Amino acid sequence: MQELPAEHAILRIMARPSDVNAQGDIFGGWLMSQVDIAGSIVATRHVKGRVVTVSANNFHFIRPVFVSDVVSIYGQIQKVGTSSILIDIAVYIERKAEGDVLVEKVADAEFVYVNIDKQGNPKPIKPS
Ligand SMILES: CC(C)(COP(=O)(O)OP(=O)(O)OC[C@H]1O[C@@H](n2cnc3c(N)ncnc32)[C@H](O)[C@@H]1OP(=O)(O)O)[C@@H](O)C(=O)NCCC(=O)NCCS
Repeated sequence: MQELPAEHAILRIMARPSDVNAQGDIFGGWLMSQVDIAGSIVATRHVKGRVVTVSANNFHFIRPVFVSDVVSIYGQIQKVGTSSILIDIAVYIERKAEGDVLVEKVADAEFVYVNIDKQGNPKPIKPS
């Protein structure tokens, strides 16, 4: 049986009926957008400024997500470049199952954000 990671989740949300695809499962695009929001929170905290998403890599949907699943998104800084920051993302769900709670890792991905100035140009990240 899997457990949630010990660290704090960046985002925790419940999948709702409005987020389903034609088959009645949670739409992958909904999960990608939540992951992008979570990654941008980690990146913004680190750079203490404005960031934009420049790439979403290796997005792996491991298991389906269903309505009422509680989705927890975890993010770790993997690499800080001159103006870019690579965030490793892991997504878990908690699901009520016959009096128990099932915990499953449902997705992982790598997102890259770029620190930008007021004109939208890349700006060096200050060392922390
Ligand atoms: C992000 C953006 C400002 C980068 O501009 P750019 O002219 O490509 O900048 P550079 O080539 O100088 O690259 C800047 C950094 O981004 C990184 N980068 C650029 N494209 C990348 C890619 N596809 N994947 C990973 N990193 C990338 C570069 O390696 C560089 O990193 P470093 O400074 O740490 O070495 C520009 O591409 C942009 O505005 N994109 C749109 C972003 C956006 O609107 N996102 C939301 C979409 S809805």
